[in-house]
Amino acid sequence: MKFKNLEKIKNLESTPKKVSIFSEKEIKMILELYKNLPETRFNKKQNVRKKAWLQNYNKELDKIYFSKLKDVLGDFKMDSLKSETNEDYFGLFHESFSPLPLHVDTGFDENTIIYKQVITPLITPGDTIVFKKRWYGRSTTFTVDEEELKFKPKPGQNDRSSAHIGKEEFDKDMYSKYLNHLDINNLRGLKVEMVYNWKVGESLIVDRTHIHCASSRIKNMKLGLTTFTKK
Ligand SMILES: [Fe+2]
Repeated sequence: MKFKNLEKIKNLESTPKKVSIFSEKEIKMILELYKNLPETRFNKKQNVRKKAWLQNYNKELDKIYFSKLKDVLGDFKMDSLKSETNEDYFGLFHESFSPLPLHVDTGFDENTIIYKQVITPLITPGDTIVFKKRWYGRSTTFTVDEEELKFKPKPGQNDRSSAHIGKEEFDKDMYSKYLNHLDINNLRGLKVEMVYNWKVGESLIVDRTHIHCASSRIKNMKLGLTTFTKK
């Protein structure tokens, strides 16, 4: 896949940014919403429980969330899939019991002008590791496992690729501190752009083209909300 508006996508890119846009009360409201939402999917392989933010469960919170994102992102559209009634999901809650592997969330539509993703930690500790390297193909999970590379994705599933690999050995300190759940050969040539230590009350805004993953630092489980946006 090749994005039709690649230049526009690149022009919208910026460095990752931490913001504090939600009050303690709003975070509580988001957690309450999470409890009330129906479960969407339990991905056994990734050991993650996902729930989609359906609109109209808490209309007041829908409004607050959208307008606060607009304050920091400017004009944007939601791009986190749609419900059965064709309403945009406002995000995906992901409750992880083990760290997510190396991937990119560029989506599956070449016509989309992908923009930022907003990650809001709800239960810590945890980290998101953002790499400098960017990816301009479909959503992909990166691996050096020969078997895994044979995986043929169904619509809506990530590609598998090892094309991110470079020559240089990955930083050993960084590896042992945050990334020892991964094969170090899967990190060859990569450099870290940002280690984002999750803090409740903050959100991380990062381009959808950045390769990223979770750190190995999970205590039982962590819970976050991610909203994918487009222009
Ligand atoms: Fe992601």
